[in-house]
Amino acid sequence: MRLPVWGQTDAAVAGASQLLLGVDYYPDQTPEALWEEDSRMMSDAGFTNVRIAEFAWGLMEPAEGKFEFAWLRRAVQTLHKHNIAVILGTPSAAPPPWLSLKYPEIVEVNAEGQRLHSGGRRFTCPTNKVYRRLSLAIASEMARAFAESPGVIGWQIDNEFTLSSSPRCYCNFCQAGFQEWLRAKYGSLDKLNQAWGTVFWSQSYTDFGQIPVPLPSGGDPNPGLALDYDRYQSYANASFLEEQLAMLRQKCPRHFVTTNNVGPPVDYIDLRELYKNLDFVAFDNYPGFFEMLVHEQMKSGSISAGTISTATAMGHDFARCVKGGKPFMIMEEQSGKAGQKTFSPQPEKGQVRLWTYQAIAHGAMGVNYFRWDTATFGAEEYWHGVLNHDRSKSPAYDEIKQTVKELKGLGPKVLNSGYPAEAALIFDYDCGWALQIQPGHHGLSYMPQVTAWYGAITASHSGIDVIQPGADLAAYKIVFAPVAYVLSEAQAARIRNFVQGGGVFVTSFRLGVKTESSQIVRTPLPGLLREVMGVSVEDYVPIYSVKQGVKFSPPFAGSDGECGLWADILQPSGAEVVGSYTAGEHAGKAAVSVNRFGKGKAVYVGADLDAASLARVLRTLTASAGVQPAIDVPAGVEMTVRKAGDKEWIFLLNNTSVVQTVTIPRAFTDLLTKDAHSGTIELSGYGVRVLA
Ligand code: GAL
Repeated sequence: MRLPVWGQTDAAVAGASQLLLGVDYYPDQTPEALWEEDSRMMSDAGFTNVRIAEFAWGLMEPAEGKFEFAWLRRAVQTLHKHNIAVILGTPSAAPPPWLSLKYPEIVEVNAEGQRLHSGGRRFTCPTNKVYRRLSLAIASEMARAFAESPGVIGWQIDNEFTLSSSPRCYCNFCQAGFQEWLRAKYGSLDKLNQAWGTVFWSQSYTDFGQIPVPLPSGGDPNPGLALDYDRYQSYANASFLEEQLAMLRQKCPRHFVTTNNVGPPVDYIDLRELYKNLDFVAFDNYPGFFEMLVHEQMKSGSISAGTISTATAMGHDFARCVKGGKPFMIMEEQSGKAGQKTFSPQPEKGQVRLWTYQAIAHGAMGVNYFRWDTATFGAEEYWHGVLNHDRSKSPAYDEIKQTVKELKGLGPKVLNSGYPAEAALIFDYDCGWALQIQPGHHGLSYMPQVTAWYGAITASHSGIDVIQPGADLAAYKIVFAPVAYVLSEAQAARIRNFVQGGGVFVTSFRLGVKTESSQIVRTPLPGLLREVMGVSVEDYVPIYSVKQGVKFSPPFAGSDGECGLWADILQPSGAEVVGSYTAGEHAGKAAVSVNRFGKGKAVYVGADLDAASLARVLRTLTASAGVQPAIDVPAGVEMTVRKAGDKEWIFLLNNTSVVQTVTIPRAFTDLLTKDAHSGTIELSGYGVRVLA
């Protein structure tokens, strides 16, 4: 066990703080004459570490089998001299030109069947054996060269798996890999043909070698095949990583190993599979850049308040739960304007500090700011760092320095504390993938649904675990599972036991439609959970021109709701109806139901509700399940609790630019200012309080 990271850092860097508070640094892109100054400045700013070399394959292996680490060794030594510890990145995300020219077969084929071109990054096939062999070779040489180097504390394998314009590879190597994976999964073609229902359109396979990948054909692919292909691609990337991991474990037993990702929805890999054997989760967090992307996708109009902070909070809760609640790290945190061809504005004063605390408030134990200096060349010239293009201090420099100082002041006890959660939100990759294959309505996709539910559960984003479908539910009072489209028997049994034992289970339209093979269940919907939910689905309705409304009754009474994309028309068989449709041929039919089952409750939200109605329904349920926030916060303020033994720290985060006042139930000390507060407490725009 290589956690906590603090211990490792301590051991490796005498006198360094126990936290990982660093920057992403590119000595490979910086004249050597500046390394000393950079290291000294980093040290002055209070940073403890850097992450380096993750794209420097060309400099480390300028020709096949010819390795040059002298420059990197000098960089590590210079950094170490200034007490800056080093996380080394293995460079497989950026193969150099000699490699892709000599081995063109390593290049990815996209979902349209077109071969990508080399020249960017992340243009590779995860299955290809040559690419794997060469990736492992450079990583092994690095490991050999730096296993005993003072200052080196850990590894990042590769960089952001599957982040590219085309997240899946469909080449011949992947096809062969898929066939091999299917052989191991199903054992026989009979089983596979049954599972997928290949008799449809004459697709029965008589040899594993006949099985295609889901490239464009005259019609949509078999849904079972397409879902298995998503699973295969996830496996291919995870097993690619595992090859480097096994080598690093052997050669560098003193070092921690992780990888960085941006998380769903951008990452298409099952991150629980990817991080399974890594020491801790590391994520990259760019809230301002994300806001810009949302604007670009919308083309016009404004983003509703809280969209970005809600998605970011959920990303952090997801990251914490990938390894069952272990502290995670932000490997790249936005520090300035961010983007490539287009870019976001400079974060407002206080926002970078706020984003840092938001991560810590949800369970992070370290933050690296992206990046130290701003590149004057390459595709990311406009991705601004802690230093400007002319090496002057960026607008956020002082704020970052102050934040680093404050966080060190908080100490490892706070930062290594736990995160209590009484509510859980199930995030299931199978549901997301299956819904992408057959959304039913062009506007319906998993991630926006899950994010809307996450935002609706509490006003403060507090005390929610974002869990995998196989997680133990017993620890929670209330469990939410929106669009649980694919439902296994084991999952249904877990939910049944949870409700029977007194839990509250809340789910939405499209529950239990599909088996794990992506076949539709042969029983009335919601299939395996019909008895638990106490309803049958009489009809399921994508909504286009005839809009639906929903009228609520107690305990959800309030203004009528709007039903957006989808309506499951419910027929109660024991459940109480607490919301009904108001329009069209289904007017008066059940839209929302509550069923008492065993000692618990099962709630079916059949309508795709507007945000206000969804919040009223979910928050009423959360409160009635006995989940109480430590502090009630106004809209725009986030509040989380970190806990170690009987010690508790409350984080208050103002996600808005205006002053907010929070009523506090007892006297607290703000650990950042050391001031005592009672009655009410003020948060400046983007302000943060840590209360004890
Ligand atoms: C991350 C990536 C970095 C850099 C950064 C800014 O997604 O890991 O390598 O590209 O974004 O674009």
